[in-house]
Amino acid sequence: MSNLTFAIIKPDAVKNNYVGQIITMITEAGFKVKAMKMTRMSQDSAKGFYEVHKERPFYGELVDFMCSGPCVPLMLEKENAVADFRKLIGATDPAQADEGTIRKRYAGSKAENAVHGSDSDENALIEIAHFFSRDERLNNYTN
Ligand code: CMP
Repeated sequence: MSNLTFAIIKPDAVKNNYVGQIITMITEAGFKVKAMKMTRMSQDSAKGFYEVHKERPFYGELVDFMCSGPCVPLMLEKENAVADFRKLIGATDPAQADEGTIRKRYAGSKAENAVHGSDSDENALIEIAHFFSRDERLNNYTN
């Protein structure tokens, strides 16, 4: 089992100024932030990231939303990271999310649901590599 997961603080949460509170919830739940940036996804990047959903009726809306403003991708470390992070964020639909979860507090709808979390160890590694270069993953920066 991997101890890494991947998260995105989505454009709705960035726009609503929830980045600080969400990162605090993540670190207070025991996750360590291993890599982080603020970026705005291109259409190509968002289409690729959500390729598994390309047959879904909401795919176009999802891609447009993810490109609508800056987002904050994060590489997170914790024992049992993938499952524990999904517990912390709560159900996709904030109306179904448990009290105390990030989506219950900060998400407005199923489509604009504040955060993404990887659904498996395998996808976590693929998604981390989608956003972070090898140097960024290793915190190996140069000026
Ligand atoms: P996320 O964890 O990023 O993974 C896929 C995303 O698709 C999901 O969060 C939601 O934001 C979005 N999504 C899922 N179901 C719907 C839906 N019925 N309508 C719009 N967006 C959806």
